[in-house]
Amino acid sequence: MYPERVLSGMRPTGAMHIGHYHGALVNWVRMQAEYPCFFMVADWHALTTSYDEVAVIGESVWEMLIDWLAAGVDPNQATIFIQSRVPEHAELTLLLGMATPLGWLERVPTYKDQIEKLSHKDLLTYGFLGYPLMQAADILVYRASMVPVGEDQVPHIEFTREIARRFNYLYGREAGFEEKAREAMKKLGGKRAKLYDEVRTRFQQNGDEGALEQGRALLADAQSLSMGDRERLFGYLEGSRKLILVEPQARLTAAPRLPGLDGAKMSKSYGNSIAMREEPAELTRKIRTMPTDPARVRLTDPGDPELCPVWPLHRIYTDEATHQWVQSGCRSASIGCLDCKQPLIDALLKEQQPIRERAQVYLDDPTLLRNIVADGCDKARKVAQDTMRDVREAMGLDYS
Ligand code: TRP
Ligand code: SF4
Repeated sequence: MYPERVLSGMRPTGAMHIGHYHGALVNWVRMQAEYPCFFMVADWHALTTSYDEVAVIGESVWEMLIDWLAAGVDPNQATIFIQSRVPEHAELTLLLGMATPLGWLERVPTYKDQIEKLSHKDLLTYGFLGYPLMQAADILVYRASMVPVGEDQVPHIEFTREIARRFNYLYGREAGFEEKAREAMKKLGGKRAKLYDEVRTRFQQNGDEGALEQGRALLADAQSLSMGDRERLFGYLEGSRKLILVEPQARLTAAPRLPGLDGAKMSKSYGNSIAMREEPAELTRKIRTMPTDPARVRLTDPGDPELCPVWPLHRIYTDEATHQWVQSGCRSASIGCLDCKQPLIDALLKEQQPIRERAQVYLDDPTLLRNIVADGCDKARKVAQDTMRDVREAMGLDYS
């Protein structure tokens, strides 16, 4: 019913590293040619975990945006914008919050996880508890059907689907249909009608697929129904109602996860990352000093690429013939680690050259970037306002 639309976002973390590039940006660039895409800087999200670090936000936002454009995100194809410049995100977050059970938020897998892991931070705030709902609003306010994200974000997309389903259930009723469906329900007979009603509620409120199956089986067995009423009840079971919000699908990125220079997760804060725009000399130094399979103390010691943080880089950056050369050369100790790293260095330098050139345009002329983003914010806002009109009406707020 609604057109396909893509939304994704990133927190402003400053200059991007090659993990961001291959994990997300390459995918965004691919999608922008196929679908209308909305790419958002999630600056409010930064405050959910660091409400007292406000000075870095602005700086990180613009640095990150330069790298999006340098990666090839094209403002003529995609809409690039900043969350806080589209206040409709806040309004939808507030309105969705009215009917969001606290337990749903407390059970988001990252919630307790992060509180334990980031124990140096104060995460016992309303903002942190509510951030998955804010993310849901980010997506739903554009009626996005697809959300390209990494594995770690999948529970948030699942949560978003549940929020959308609940909203449509609570506020999406269409006049006439419901009465007819209720009449048809009576024809099921008392006991069955009651069971039907129960499983329907369980599916629509909680997305319980078992309940949906149970409801379908019940209808399939019901002899007393006319064809029309049966159809009606199948539709009613799944929610043939006005869909105000769209349930989005997560689109996982295909790229394998890139570890950092030391084999741990790549992150600027661990100091183990390679930037998307690294100085060529620094890039070369970083790769040359990368640790390798610890078993290869001397050149004559055989190694195992699977135990070496250099290998995942090869999988992304070099071709099949080079992979074979690495595999056999490493295991037979016929190549040295510096030999092994050279094709990587070459490939990275080659990849980064055009990226650096594209970034330079925006570094030289900061107003260019400001204009692109202002334009994107306007475009995003129009779409968000459209959704909010329907949401307000559905929630009884369009009175005069
Ligand atoms: N929470 C996401 C992250 O930490 C960022 C984000 C915010 C996002 N809003 C979004 C991602 C909407 C996809 C869709 O990476
Ligand atoms: Fe790693 Fe390559 Fe050295 Fe093997 S030869 S240990 S894969 S750097």
